[in-house]
Amino acid sequence: MKQGTRMWDVLKDSARRSIVDLMQDADRADAFSVEADGLLFDYSKTTMDAAARDALLQIARRKAVEARRDAMMSGQKINETEARAVLHTALRNLSGGAIEVDGADVMPDVRATLARMEMFANDVRSGAFQGHGGASADVSNIGIGGSHLGPEMGTLALAPYHDGPRCHFVSNVDGADIADTLKGLDPTRTLVIVASKTFTTIETITNAETARAWMAKAVTHPGDQFAALSTAEDKTAAFGISPDRVFGFEAWVGGRYSMWGPIGLSLMIAIGPERFTAFLRGGEAMDVHFRSAPLLNNMPMMRALTGLWHSHVCGFGTRAVLPYDQRLSRLAAYFQQLEMESNGKGVTMDGTPVTEGSGPIVWGEPGTNGQHAFYQLIHQGTRVIPCEFMVAARGHEPDLAHHHALLVANCLAQSEALMRGRSLQEARALMEDAGFEGPELDRQAAHRVFTGNRPSTTLLYDQLTPYVLGQIVALYEHRVFVEGVILGINSFDQWGVELGKVLAKDMERILSKDAPMEDKDPSTRQLVTFVQRNTSET
Ligand code: F6P
Repeated sequence: MKQGTRMWDVLKDSARRSIVDLMQDADRADAFSVEADGLLFDYSKTTMDAAARDALLQIARRKAVEARRDAMMSGQKINETEARAVLHTALRNLSGGAIEVDGADVMPDVRATLARMEMFANDVRSGAFQGHGGASADVSNIGIGGSHLGPEMGTLALAPYHDGPRCHFVSNVDGADIADTLKGLDPTRTLVIVASKTFTTIETITNAETARAWMAKAVTHPGDQFAALSTAEDKTAAFGISPDRVFGFEAWVGGRYSMWGPIGLSLMIAIGPERFTAFLRGGEAMDVHFRSAPLLNNMPMMRALTGLWHSHVCGFGTRAVLPYDQRLSRLAAYFQQLEMESNGKGVTMDGTPVTEGSGPIVWGEPGTNGQHAFYQLIHQGTRVIPCEFMVAARGHEPDLAHHHALLVANCLAQSEALMRGRSLQEARALMEDAGFEGPELDRQAAHRVFTGNRPSTTLLYDQLTPYVLGQIVALYEHRVFVEGVILGINSFDQWGVELGKVLAKDMERILSKDAPMEDKDPSTRQLVTFVQRNTSET
């Protein structure tokens, strides 16, 4: 069998099993779940049976996922297209030993930077760090992609733990983003954190310059109220940010894997270094589990194999991330970058085409909101969408426990409804009870049929604490890694974002009439002309 091309074919028949039938096995829920360190991942409401799972595990072994995992965690340069190690796990390696890249232990620098972040975060929180008008009342994190989504998602997720200054996040080059954020902030008491690994990203630098100009109207030395998170210390110095407020990291931390280190500074300021450490510990615990648990009891492994089962064996093109947790409102956006920028590739590591499809489309919204929007299609549409539910047993509002009970009930009911569905016979009985008869009974009943057999997984946790958030983020990072290895994809580069960036530079000059547009296609010329016509009228 040619690896990477027909490996799923042997499994395709079993993809058509009935989940309800599989569920007749009294042991199924237990056998198709992984419970570890307070998390329960249940993938029993899928069509995967034991034989299919064995075959998937065989594929994982054949693809040497474990060896690749060990290579990643020990600092080998598994990001082959960029000749880089992949060591976000080093950022949360609080209890582990040395990790070497090119013969040098990276841990002393990681620890020193973490200690500097903690000192700075404590100074900002206590007011020891002063802006021109006093202690920082607000922090504005300016970054995009991996330098934005992680800290923003984490800061929203851990709102019950906030006891620092207010944190705001600006990412879009659309001036509306920074204008709306800065409106109402006191420039003499705002700390601006410019988060950019490369410090060249046009959106971030444009927003940072706008923030600096805004501040310069009120204070003499705006640079004193700026900090930077970057690997490019020459560029942060050129921007005017003093090195003692620059928190550097190495090229072996990928943008979308970076919230564990300096890029997480705004989160650390919001919740405090101790809770940030708990977040790191959650990630570290998931690393230890991923490294040591046998494949069948390995949560990232089974999370990944279930994902591939749906995307590559069953052929479902998307997956829905459905946290029943309002504070995880940015989790789907965060996972979109994590998964789609990592595994949305057209070629494998050796440059040959990905023949069976890259990673799937990831999207979602928190429940119960989504139920009143797109769940209609999930239940009755013609496309099957595997749903990835997650919910905490306990909320953070003891006085509102009845809200949480409703939330959990809805989450569990959705997965049950997707699996069971409602037969025509059941729908007819309902309509008969409602007084319908004859052709109208048939018509009304047809609309109330749910085909069922729609797969879902559920991740349960006790409460969304910093530790649990760390576990969840690391779980998904490793899931993406496993899927990438099995698909033969390099999950750690992102060449697909380059072309648009290059063309945008030309386009900016064309729009401002500093460059001709003759060599552009007719559609693009029409669009440019419309914009130019409208901008010249204002
Ligand atoms: O959009 C591509 C990308 O390079 C992401 O991978 C990255 O997270 C983001 O841009 C921001 O990059 P930087 O941190 O260098 O500003």
